[in-house]
Amino acid sequence: MSSRFKQFAAGQKIPASEITPEPVYRARREIIAGLSAAAAMAVLPAACADPGDKDAGAVAVSMPGARTDGAAHHAAELDYKAATAAHRPHGFYTDEALTPYSDATRYNNFYEFGTDKTDPARYAKNLSTEPWSVVVDGEAEKTGTFNLEDILRPHTLEERIYRLRCVEAWSMVIPWIGFPLGAMLERFSPTSRARYVRFETLQRPSEMRGQRSKFGTIDWPYVEGLTMAEAMHPLTLIATGMYGKHLPNQNGAPLRLVVPWKYGFKSIKSIVRISFSEKMPRTTWNLLAPHEYGFYANVNPKVDHPRWSQANERRLPSSLFNPRRIATQMFNGYEAQVGALYKGLDLKKNF
Ligand code: MTE
Repeated sequence: MSSRFKQFAAGQKIPASEITPEPVYRARREIIAGLSAAAAMAVLPAACADPGDKDAGAVAVSMPGARTDGAAHHAAELDYKAATAAHRPHGFYTDEALTPYSDATRYNNFYEFGTDKTDPARYAKNLSTEPWSVVVDGEAEKTGTFNLEDILRPHTLEERIYRLRCVEAWSMVIPWIGFPLGAMLERFSPTSRARYVRFETLQRPSEMRGQRSKFGTIDWPYVEGLTMAEAMHPLTLIATGMYGKHLPNQNGAPLRLVVPWKYGFKSIKSIVRISFSEKMPRTTWNLLAPHEYGFYANVNPKVDHPRWSQANERRLPSSLFNPRRIATQMFNGYEAQVGALYKGLDLKKNF
């Protein structure tokens, strides 16, 4: 276990045991899943509490609201046996078969390492993710540069099993480990002018060969964004792990966004900057091809990509003989949870 997660585990007590070899993990999945739902309920008030931090703005300061005692939300203190499926917030889990770990970690999009699906697994190995810090700036009272440890410490990890639908019309089902983005954002006390959140990925050409490519069209760093309402939605997750393990580099270590009702390109990897802004941020794919990739990028089977249909998707792993084509669902199956966010919005125009 890396030193960072050792420290994190020591503060939290639970994650060390949750980071379990996959076979054990699979057997324990149900228990952890039940426990996680209860843990989610327990952590929110603590994470949203007034941090009362006076040192914000300094470089590499303690995260506002960071707790060092780790009290109050140890999953061990919760009666997780009582947290049956009936208590799980709807939409946090799906019973669909999980995508095998080997597919989820070898068929990736992470253009910083190359454009081939196998490039990230091959070339992300040498990315150094320790130490890691995140700059928080813009329309918030608590801004600065924060160590990853301080960002993670107050949050209890939970498991979410989400569908991931790529704009390229393939999909997977992934068991993420993480915590709600909204609980983290609250700790920075966004001002009333904050209407959007902008995210930026690491730019380090020495370790990211895709950023050195002379033929690339992307203007690095990779940038994504959400409205504040989307960012604060309980389904929106900051993931630090998957399948009961740490996030592999190719999947966006050490922390990435997961927005399950949007096309996968919104789920930005290896985040180093979070900015609160009044204006809608310019985002990587939208800048590259605005008529193909909108800011909202909500999964929508009724709005096709100009070059292909979005009505269906290939559920990976798929092959020529077993394409595993399934119908794409509105908002990737999360309409009951997020539909209200877009009431009155023309989804054809705001694709
Ligand atoms: N984040 C960064 N920084 N760079 C990328 O190229 N690709 C996006 C998204 N996040 C991408 C990124 C796309 S297109 C998809 S579909 C998902 O990551 C894929 O996530 P996965 O490789 O974990 O399945």
